[in-house]
Amino acid sequence: MDRIRIRGGRPLHGKIAISGAKNAALPLMAASLLTEETLVLRNLPHLADIATMTHLLAQHGTELSMAGEHPGGGHMGHVLALRTHDISSTEAPYDIVRKMRASVLVLGPLLARCGQARVSLPGGCAIGTRPVDMHIGGLEALGAEIELDDGYILARAPQGLQGGVVVFPQVSVGATENLLMAATLAKGEVVLENAAREPEIGDLANCLNSMGARIEGIGSDTLRIQGVEKLSGADYAVLPDRIEAATYAMAAAITGGEVELLGARWELMEAVAAALARANVRMQPTDCGVLVSAGSDGLSGINVTTAPYPGFPTDLQAQLMALLATANGAAMITETIFENRFQHVPELMRMGADITVKGANAMVRGRGGPAGSVGGGLHGAPVMATDLRASVSLVLAGLAAAGETVISRVYHLDRGYERLEEKLSDCGADIVRLVD
Ligand code: EPZ
Repeated sequence: MDRIRIRGGRPLHGKIAISGAKNAALPLMAASLLTEETLVLRNLPHLADIATMTHLLAQHGTELSMAGEHPGGGHMGHVLALRTHDISSTEAPYDIVRKMRASVLVLGPLLARCGQARVSLPGGCAIGTRPVDMHIGGLEALGAEIELDDGYILARAPQGLQGGVVVFPQVSVGATENLLMAATLAKGEVVLENAAREPEIGDLANCLNSMGARIEGIGSDTLRIQGVEKLSGADYAVLPDRIEAATYAMAAAITGGEVELLGARWELMEAVAAALARANVRMQPTDCGVLVSAGSDGLSGINVTTAPYPGFPTDLQAQLMALLATANGAAMITETIFENRFQHVPELMRMGADITVKGANAMVRGRGGPAGSVGGGLHGAPVMATDLRASVSLVLAGLAAAGETVISRVYHLDRGYERLEEKLSDCGADIVRLVD
């Protein structure tokens, strides 16, 4: 299994091109099941999860072809043409779904297009049990008959999905996406209340509308969809990855450097920028993206609670913890979205971080040094990645720490970060992948 070796203490300086958003690309790919015409998606990131979704769609009957590279050339995102003229199988098998829970996003499209679906329950993962009860409850509210059998969701809607109102008991990105896609072909009007407002959902809704769907309320917590007979193909570019961008913003800050995040969208990062400003990280929009640098007198400890968009994203909680472990003063991080998303804590503590976890709260006692000092008391160590965002928090800590850090199980990283070592070493990091 590949490992990554980092020799820390080197401030990052330069530019990092931000890739297309994984969490927009995955539902957009699933949306290709809703039409027999071709959906062209641009600016797709080269990630393991994207490859998993192509395998899943291919076994449903989708023809996929790489339709060239991003006009910027090089690695910068690829263009994928997806065409599902006929759906050959309405089953999403366990051996694919267990690798990537976003596979459950084919449930709504299959049910809407074919009137049936047999999708494996995704099972839990390192960060929590992650049930899909709201996906199921929402589809039942639109007339689907759903039962659980042998670890699979068996869903049927032989007369098609009906209009109706779905009120989500709590905000769920995936449930909102599944219901939004299913609703586009329902017979009547569907209203989704307490819908998630993540920008990736707006991207999905905009793409669906370009395919002929009729969705109103995009960006709000109430989505109103008038079902249509059929959807057409479209040509759509995926929005930049705000989580990747903020991750690299924290890499610049934790190393005391300055980095321009090319293609990052300032308006998608305002809650993050506000929180990081309190930690003395300077961020500002530029003509090409967002410029980030650490304040002159070191990082400050801050209190942050994760929340659905537009709040501070749970997908940045692990990265923030690494950053605050090097700050001056104490910080309290509260995780409200997932019940077990502190897997990175013991690994950060092996690097010298002072963190105490009590339930959903993590008290971080930063040991930052004076202005310009890097590392904040962290030292390199062999550590293990446990999930996607935990693994990148170890990268951030390694970039700051004195000495050498070797991170194992980096396949977690490859799920969500495209060419991470290259992007960081281009800015001066001493980081290499050790292929075993
Ligand atoms: C999406 O996961 C993202 N994944 C996650 O990013 C992200 O952390 C999460 O949204 C929250 O923003 C993708 O977009 C592919 P949820 P999702 O449904 O849809 C509970 C990453 O690192 N819940 O919003 O699975 C659930 O257990 C990944 O890129 C139910 O109880 O998240 C969680 O506690 C990690 N029942 C909370 O809701 C349900 O039916 C929010 O989950 C659905 C969810």
